Amino acid sequence: MNNNRGKQKYDKLIVYYFSGTGNAKNAAKWIAQFATNNGISSIVVSIDNKPLIEIQDESKKTLIGFCFPTHGFNVSPKMLKFIAGFPRKLNSDVFILNTRAGMKLSKLFIPGLSGIAQFLPALILLTKSYRIVGMQPLDLPSNWISLHPGLRPKVVKSIYERCEKITYRFAEKLLNGKHVYKAFYSLPFDILISPISVLYYFIGRFVLAKTFIANNDCTSCDLCANNCPTNSIEMYNGKPFWKFTCESCMRCMNNCPKRAIQTAHLYSFFIWYIFGGLVTGIAFNYFFNKNFSTHFLPTGVFKILIYDIFQIISVFVGIYFAYKLLNFLLRYKIFNKFINYTSLTYYSFWRRYKPPKNF
Ligand SMILES: Cc1cc2nc3c(=O)[nH]c(=O)nc-3n(C[C@H](O)[C@H](O)[C@H](O)COP(=O)(O)O)c2cc1C
Repeated sequence: MNNNRGKQKYDKLIVYYFSGTGNAKNAAKWIAQFATNNGISSIVVSIDNKPLIEIQDESKKTLIGFCFPTHGFNVSPKMLKFIAGFPRKLNSDVFILNTRAGMKLSKLFIPGLSGIAQFLPALILLTKSYRIVGMQPLDLPSNWISLHPGLRPKVVKSIYERCEKITYRFAEKLLNGKHVYKAFYSLPFDILISPISVLYYFIGRFVLAKTFIANNDCTSCDLCANNCPTNSIEMYNGKPFWKFTCESCMRCMNNCPKRAIQTAHLYSFFIWYIFGGLVTGIAFNYFFNKNFSTHFLPTGVFKILIYDIFQIISVFVGIYFAYKLLNFLLRYKIFNKFINYTSLTYYSFWRRYKPPKNF
């Protein structure tokens, strides 16, 4: 992976990364490693604990990178805040690399979807006068184990091998002064799903934050709370409690040494149905039709809008209290068992996600 072609365009590389389970961190490290091997001084900086942003040395030609996972067809909220607060700098070169949910079916590598994960940070950086020289999505293994079991280690390894090569090619082109805009390949799909990105950012992520619990196997080791990149886990009576600020990055669930952290699937669906369906229907009908029926048929833009507002308020208030109740009831052995058996993540076939060690 030596880069001998042409004259180096940069003297220095700084890569800022946010990573839930290690994919974006590995991508950042690969790029830095490639640069170092080619005589460019490089640093990789985690944004977990408000890093000191280096004021770039004017005498050096610096390339700045941002690596992060895609969350809900968008840039992960923590990285979005970091980029929004990044200092302005005239004509400095930057690149954006978002890791996505890569899968593999037989021999076929299946890509994830970026949504606005590339274009939103690019827009922010453009308004800060940066020059965007690279926009690269990278389909590393999906870590979203609330939705599906972690991929098999063999599949993870094969996806990693492919992505490592892609990342080196990307780094080589950038360091040779070329521009890479691979993110544009999926632009039609990304535009199509962009409304979901917005819904996820303003609603979805908060709802998902309240699906996590620790069962009776939890030993109160505090590892989850101490390693949470958004400080969203508080310990109450020796058990973790997830705050609304949780980004569902999956670090806690994948790293729990006792596999005690679960997604309370059935309980969460039940609460969403009660508050998003029944309670909303009753409240809506009470105010508009003066009855307590749950059957509703909002017609007209105004009524649909009111209905949606009812639904959002009802779901948020509902999950706030239902989550407190859930954590209280978990003290009882029988309820703990019920939650375990109705959480898919509890079953042994539901693998946790771990990036391979030797990458
Ligand atoms: C809450 C959540 C939302 C996600 N949303 C998307 C998505 O919209 N599109 C996608 O391709 N991958 C999505 N993923 C998958 C991750 O972006 C992907 O696995 C990434 O490589 C993880 O990187 P990390 O290990 O650095 O956290 C999502 C994962 C999680 C946990």
